Amino acid sequence: MTNDSQDPKNDKNILERLIGGVREVTDSKDQDKLHEKVSELKESEKRVGVKTDAAASGPIGLDIGTSRIVSMTKNINGELVAKDQLNAFFTIPHSVFAVQMLEKSNMKFAEIEGKQLAIFGYDAQEFGNIFNGEVRRPMSQGLLKASEPNAIQMIKSIIGLVVDKSKTFGTSLCFGVPAPQIGFESDLIFHESILKKHLIGMGYNTKSITEGAAVVLSELSEDNYTGIGISMGGGMCNVCFSFLSVPVIVFSIPKGGDYIDTCVSRVVNETQNRVRVMKEESLDFGRAPRNKVEHAFEIYYDDLVMSLLTQLAAVFSQAQHLPKLNQAIPVVLAGGTAMPNGFRQKFDKAIKQMKLPVEISEVRLSSDPLKATSKGALINAGV
Ligand SMILES: Nc1ncnc2c1ncn2[C@@H]1O[C@H](COP(=O)(O)OP(=O)(O)OP(=O)(O)O)[C@@H](O)[C@H]1O
Ligand SMILES: [Mg+2]
Repeated sequence: MTNDSQDPKNDKNILERLIGGVREVTDSKDQDKLHEKVSELKESEKRVGVKTDAAASGPIGLDIGTSRIVSMTKNINGELVAKDQLNAFFTIPHSVFAVQMLEKSNMKFAEIEGKQLAIFGYDAQEFGNIFNGEVRRPMSQGLLKASEPNAIQMIKSIIGLVVDKSKTFGTSLCFGVPAPQIGFESDLIFHESILKKHLIGMGYNTKSITEGAAVVLSELSEDNYTGIGISMGGGMCNVCFSFLSVPVIVFSIPKGGDYIDTCVSRVVNETQNRVRVMKEESLDFGRAPRNKVEHAFEIYYDDLVMSLLTQLAAVFSQAQHLPKLNQAIPVVLAGGTAMPNGFRQKFDKAIKQMKLPVEISEVRLSSDPLKATSKGALINAGV
């Protein structure tokens, strides 16, 4: 979790001692404080389902992912309402005719680079399919893409499709960020600052939360927020080992669904778009691979799981003091890459073969893997 997230002043000392430092929580006063915090978070989660007077002006959770941007808030009936958009755009040459056609068909578009029109969000995918071209993306591996000149303009436009300007100044909004990757910490500072400034400009009081920690808040309330939350997305995988809601270990690896699609498309000589559609529509690890594409998916999925678990084991082994756990802890998987049938079982089998200093009770799959991060961010925003 980043510095300004989940840090009410009275928890500051505990958090400073734990985050990144991986200290042992031995003092019973510390434990009491953490249990208080767990209760607060549980109360916050319970408030989902409670009716409110103000329509659509409550806190917002926002997942700004490499593939998709998802917002979550609560409606007046207390139900969670999510909006999502593809984090992508497609450009066509500027012309009066094109502008009229896009306006007529109610497409979302903007002028970029002087002579280009960029259609963004899910509309971009439709254009990509019609023109048989690849969409462009503002982000890569969890962060704003340095090589995309229109990244900042486009991401602001796409965010605008799922989040309105705040009706009440200072509404709380918590957005997801990736955990730092060793050697690329400064890129994360840039990414987070640009988004934060933009969201403040929209009238929000912002916080951020790392994706793995958001998965913990969304999925592990029954376990007092103690366990391992893993988000397996398009650009990366984010991991958080949380103890009583405190993120003790957070890290990310720069591999996710995009990596799998790129590798598979190369070895089977197909477009990335086609292999992605096959993956999303029919990949099933519950049966033996039926063709070369499914064989390739199995190989690169295994590679991704191995990279993630090897890193997990390495980070745990470097941690000098881990909190004393008196029982085995659950692992919860979220994100689109964890969705194929049979993937949870594949992960379960692989983690059982790893030597970890904590005992794993079970591997679960989030009931709504594409929304877990935005839900966790909403809980952290104080729903
Ligand atoms: N049913 C499915 N089966 C397999 N993969 C899927 C499925 N649905 C989506 N995906 C893949 O999940 C990835 C997107 O997942 P998600 O929306 O969680 O990522 P993201 O949050 O945008 O990215 P990141 O967290 O890495 O920044 C894409 O690679 C997509 O192809
Ligand atoms: Mg994600």
